[in-house]
Amino acid sequence: AKDMGSALDKILVTEEQIRTRTRELAAEIDADYAGKDLLLVGVLKGAVMVMADLARELHHPCEMDWMAVSSYGAGTTSSGVVRILKDLDTDIQGRNVLIVEDVIDSGLTLSWLVGNLKSRHPASVEICTMVRKPMAFNVDLDVKYVGFDLPNEFIVGYGLDYAEKYRNLPFIATLAPHVYDD
Ligand code: PRP
Ligand code: MN
Ligand code: MG
Repeated sequence: AKDMGSALDKILVTEEQIRTRTRELAAEIDADYAGKDLLLVGVLKGAVMVMADLARELHHPCEMDWMAVSSYGAGTTSSGVVRILKDLDTDIQGRNVLIVEDVIDSGLTLSWLVGNLKSRHPASVEICTMVRKPMAFNVDLDVKYVGFDLPNEFIVGYGLDYAEKYRNLPFIATLAPHVYDD
């Protein structure tokens, strides 16, 4: 559908699979938060697609807020040292916070973020991610809602980027090695 065919290797999760799984996660979240306040916190920029689709599948009333964070250092892998580029607009004291992410890779971004948000005395903090990669199991992180557990491959699409590109693919695919080897 999109003119990115030669950059991609194979589709791991189709648009239809994402839609189905998003509906399942939304139904779980609706049930778990019945009668409770809910604030979705999206992590810019990768979480934009998940947030937009998940929020529209929820029947439960919710609010949305956003944070932008960045790892220090120039490497492509997360260092675990994080700085806030854009903080929440909302005071989360006493709120039920659900962090929305596209992918958990090393888990370092979320480990830091959960700690940071908990220090603001919310009623609860949980995590919903569309993709979890195997390294995430090496950190002590409670992830309540997971779309797909995927192998440790270079993946793009549905919010996940390579050098800011491919986020707008409606599916999740592996990037062809020639793209990042060049
Ligand atoms: C990516 C991804 C997660 C994080 C996961 O964001 O969207 O937020 O890395 O990595 P980790 O589990 O190893 O910490 P990135 O920092 O690339 O920013 P982006 O969302 O703007 O792409
Ligand atoms: Mn991100
Ligand atoms: Mg990124």
